[in-house]
Amino acid sequence: MPSIGILIAFATTEGQTRKIARFAADHRTGLGASVELLNAEDAEGLNLARFDGVILAASLHMGHFQKALIGFAKANGAALTARPSLFLPVSLSAVGDDDAGRKGLEDCVAQFVTETLWRPGQIRQVAGALHFKEYDFFKACMMRRIAASKGKALGAGGDMDYTDWPGLEAGLTAWQVALKSGC
Ligand SMILES: Cc1cc2nc3c(=O)[nH]c(=O)nc-3n(C[C@H](O)[C@H](O)[C@H](O)COP(=O)(O)O)c2cc1C
Repeated sequence: MPSIGILIAFATTEGQTRKIARFAADHRTGLGASVELLNAEDAEGLNLARFDGVILAASLHMGHFQKALIGFAKANGAALTARPSLFLPVSLSAVGDDDAGRKGLEDCVAQFVTETLWRPGQIRQVAGALHFKEYDFFKACMMRRIAASKGKALGAGGDMDYTDWPGLEAGLTAWQVALKSGC
């Protein structure tokens, strides 16, 4: 029996979403799927017809997802909507139970969906990370302030991985059910 073909397209600025996309790829491969892991910047000319399901992942920066992933979703909105799909928005707003942050996050995702015309079958919010090595001085100051305002403890080097990996694994397993039922 031919294996299920899954596309995992991602966009990242500091690397956490690439790590999340790779985790999703390993998970799908472990379930016997054939996976193509693609940086959205390299998606030009991609034919979606050979994929049975798609996962898209992107991170929030100043309230917006990366242009490359928005462009990819816009260019392929109908084809993406026509197959089982999962959107993984990565952000710091998904960390903890801050109602205002969650509301802002939902607004950003709603704006993305309106703009791209892709209707994701499922959306699973993913908490991101702080990677101070990747920030310039001003970004580092801003992110330290944001982390402090949210009461987030920083590791010794300042970096912090907030991604709930077991929770993400559970979400990917749940999407497997939708994939099998063609939703
Ligand atoms: C300059 C900057 C702006 C950010 N803006 C937001 C934001 O508007 N909302 C949010 O929830 N998280 C925001 N974040 C947090 C990122 O979404 C988070 O660090 C994520 O893990 C980045 O993923 P990436 O490494 O794949 O780019 C911001 C991070 C940086 C460095």
